[in-house]
Amino acid sequence: MVIINTIGKNIQTLRKQNGLTQEELAGRIGVTYQAVSKWENGTTAPDISLLPELAAVFGTNIDALLGYAAEKKTSAYYEERYKDTEYYWGVKPSFMCLEVLRILPPDRPLRILDVGCGEGKDAVFFSKNGYKVSAFDITGSGIEKAKRLAERHGVDIDFFRADIIDYRLEKEFDVIFCSGVLHYLPEEVRGEVLDDWKRHTATGGVNALNVFVQKPFIQNPPDQEPGHFPTWHSGELFGYFHDWRFERCEEVIFDCNSGGAPHKHCMDTLIAVKETV
Ligand SMILES: C[S@@+](CC[C@H](N)C(=O)[O-])C[C@H]1O[C@@H](n2cnc3c(N)ncnc32)[C@H](O)[C@@H]1O
Repeated sequence: MVIINTIGKNIQTLRKQNGLTQEELAGRIGVTYQAVSKWENGTTAPDISLLPELAAVFGTNIDALLGYAAEKKTSAYYEERYKDTEYYWGVKPSFMCLEVLRILPPDRPLRILDVGCGEGKDAVFFSKNGYKVSAFDITGSGIEKAKRLAERHGVDIDFFRADIIDYRLEKEFDVIFCSGVLHYLPEEVRGEVLDDWKRHTATGGVNALNVFVQKPFIQNPPDQEPGHFPTWHSGELFGYFHDWRFERCEEVIFDCNSGGAPHKHCMDTLIAVKETV
């Protein structure tokens, strides 16, 4: 009964988030609206063969439909690294933070979302500078550490755990900021996730994003987290934002010495503004 209720509640929430009536959802997947109503009130559950179709209509996955929330997942790699008392990424903000400050200074209460915030250095920087900050990461240890950093700086930030792959925004932000994380986004959900961010950015707002990209002449680094080699193409990120104004759009190849072996990375950075249509 618990499972039936969970699926039903999730279907109801996702249906509403997608602006569908019970009749519309029923029509999309070829069942009666009474069936949808029964799922939502927990009397019955959808047939297992309908789950892929339901997930597709809602733009989510079967895990989310069944209520397996992101907190059950993690990146084992960073979860371990963040357990150290040292701040793995340091506590200095990334250069993209300064760019955001320049392009959209917080002369009014501006809402910012830091996606894949790690141990919170950028989120804390934004909060100290007067932005209203929400930030998430897939790791519990990262979020705990980020909360401690915020506490140490006397700032109040809405930190939470979520997975970039299946987390969909519920409210609007003035800035969506994502540094060093997009390579975790598989090709098949990139368009959907970035569309979600674009839709949930206020007019005049900014997306500040970077991503590691593939170059045939650059080898994968020796300490690359297994299974997370960059699969983004050069310039791919920019294409998703073709209808926004670009404030900064660049591709840089830089030297890195992580893992004790010199190697190179290629990174695309985009800072784009959502203009009024
Ligand atoms: C290179 S670190 C960057 C951290 C932070 N943005 C910074 O610049 O300090 C990548 C971060 O992405 C997080 N991450 C990895 N996969 C994720 C996912 N599926 N959803 C959310 N965060 C994820 C990791 O836990 C890690 O904190």
